Amino acid sequence: MTAPFYVTTPIYYVNARPHLGHAYTTIAADVICRFHSMRGAETFLLTGTDEHGEKIVRAAKKEKLTPRAYVEKISAQFKALWPQLNIGYNHFVRTTDSYHVSVVQRVLQKIYDSGDIYFSEYEGLYCFGCERFYTERELVEGKCPDHDTQPEVIKESNYFFKMSRYQDWLVDHIHAHPDFIRPEHFRNEVLAFLREPLEDLCISRPKTRLEWGISLPFDENFVTYVWFDALLNYVSALGYPDGELFHKFWPHVQHTVAKDILKPHGIYWPIMLHAAGIPVYQHLNVHGYWNVDQSKMSKTIGNVVDPLELKTVYGLDAFRFFLMRDMVFGLDSNFSESALVQRINSDLANDLGNLFSRVLSMVHKYFKGEVPEVDPAVEAELNLDLEQRAIRCIADYQAAMEAFAFHKALIIVWEFINHLNKTIDVTAPWMLAKKKTTQKQLQVVIYDLLEGLRIISGLIYPVMPDTAQAMQRHLGMNPEAPFYFLNMLKRFKTIPAGTRIPKSVALFPRIDTENKKEPDLSAGSDAEATGGAGFKPQISIDDFAMLDLRVATVLKAETIPRARKLLKLEIDVGEKRTIVAGIAESYAPEALVGKQIIVVANLKPVKIMGILSNGMMLAAVDGKRISAATLDKPLPPGSPMR
Ligand code: MSP
Repeated sequence: MTAPFYVTTPIYYVNARPHLGHAYTTIAADVICRFHSMRGAETFLLTGTDEHGEKIVRAAKKEKLTPRAYVEKISAQFKALWPQLNIGYNHFVRTTDSYHVSVVQRVLQKIYDSGDIYFSEYEGLYCFGCERFYTERELVEGKCPDHDTQPEVIKESNYFFKMSRYQDWLVDHIHAHPDFIRPEHFRNEVLAFLREPLEDLCISRPKTRLEWGISLPFDENFVTYVWFDALLNYVSALGYPDGELFHKFWPHVQHTVAKDILKPHGIYWPIMLHAAGIPVYQHLNVHGYWNVDQSKMSKTIGNVVDPLELKTVYGLDAFRFFLMRDMVFGLDSNFSESALVQRINSDLANDLGNLFSRVLSMVHKYFKGEVPEVDPAVEAELNLDLEQRAIRCIADYQAAMEAFAFHKALIIVWEFINHLNKTIDVTAPWMLAKKKTTQKQLQVVIYDLLEGLRIISGLIYPVMPDTAQAMQRHLGMNPEAPFYFLNMLKRFKTIPAGTRIPKSVALFPRIDTENKKEPDLSAGSDAEATGGAGFKPQISIDDFAMLDLRVATVLKAETIPRARKLLKLEIDVGEKRTIVAGIAESYAPEALVGKQIIVVANLKPVKIMGILSNGMMLAAVDGKRISAATLDKPLPPGSPMR
């Protein structure tokens, strides 16, 4: 029987909206789950939100909400996002769920009863951002390495977990299981940390300081430290200790996290499990960080990347492919839209897209859209060797996927794709088609290429499930069937001769980098869509009042490289803002400076050609002629329009 598979993502803090980094880990977990279903395994993907602690209380206060109302709101955003990225999680755990609270209390009581928790007074350096004490040697020039702030000295009585007692056990376990933490450099990092004596872990916070947490079962005056609470989600979600899911999946668990939370997962968590008498996890898979334009993503810098925006502009599968292909799992990666466009154009539109449309159009051109028969003698004589290559490709791919080396698995698939493209060039089917005597050779070439495409559709399934299904449909196969099972992929000659092949489609249209996704921002486009002079449906005065129209003065105007129609405007609308306007064909930038224009000030900001446009300029449109809406008397910037 095929062993089940269980993968987890970190449970994300609800103090920020989900971004590219969260999307990467969660897509990686989805990809690995889909891969294990290719083995025929029953899989379970767990994700969720981490909702207790000071961070959350502070974030709630900022939004003038109670912690409970606040966590409801943000947790719902995470929950709603994942299906939009085609992430089929099996359970969404929240640390405020009652079953989770009971498991945390149960495990704490168990460890307390076995004598691994003690009460003591402690004075230490506390970082409020990290919600933990730091030792002097962990600080960088006296500051918290993550927050760059000086920790405060805090003296208080708390409960401590005797981690030090298990230090030798953990070192031995890591040595005995070389890929317990992978890739290797993260394993070495954990071992290096364990060369110093391990301090006991403070696992409580007095309620006088923090109330938003899980009460200790043995002392009502304290709540549980967030990490001790959060890590237990991985077992509580399966119904620990007696749940059927726990028995089925826990022995096969693998965690996926980024390097920022290596220490709690590589040290605290295995020791907690061991102390509680729960078997430890199989693998901790650790990836690097996505940076944007070489710097860390941060709200202050304003470079936080929204995954849904990228999906909207470039398509979901292309986005998923880029993430999995561009990051070497375990190393940091730099995100840029131009790298994404380049990947789409080279790997997806050129290599895969071209292969697909070339082969399918030849089936139509030479065989009236029907899969040709293969004559085994002619096939042996031709010796294309595609079957052997496919088998080697599948084996290498499988090994790479099992090791979480997604980039490597995709490189292996692309080597196969490129080999098929080369096979077309070398066999020159258009020449074979010219002579009656080479008809049977043509049949073999086209049939084998179709089989190659079938195998590719299965291998890309974990990363690009929608594209895989589209390919299946266009190979005349059932896209709802489990076409991606490795056993089926390994069986060459599965497509029956005579199968009707639908006409080819462009799987990934090339992105024109000259006029890349340049949206038509001229105000006329909507009116045209409703039928020239046709008016839009009536609205009430209340509907109109929702628009925040303001006077703005143009401070600066400049062209945008590679955008023929767009100008970037710096405006004063009562505050300084940047907007992108589709008026470059009607206005020279210098003619706009000093002009007073009208802008929609409450339009949701959007990124256009990499620039965040925070507002929209109004202009009248007559075909290609555009006239900006201006004032005939100057007024202070920010004045409302009625
Ligand atoms: N709540 C804790 C985790 C508890 S798990 C028991 C937490 N939450 S978090 O919201 O800060 O999420 C951290 C995780 O988000 C990282 O480990 C990683 O999975 C993902 N990422 C956040 N930013 C990232 C990047 N810039 N790049 C890659 N992944 C990142 O820590």
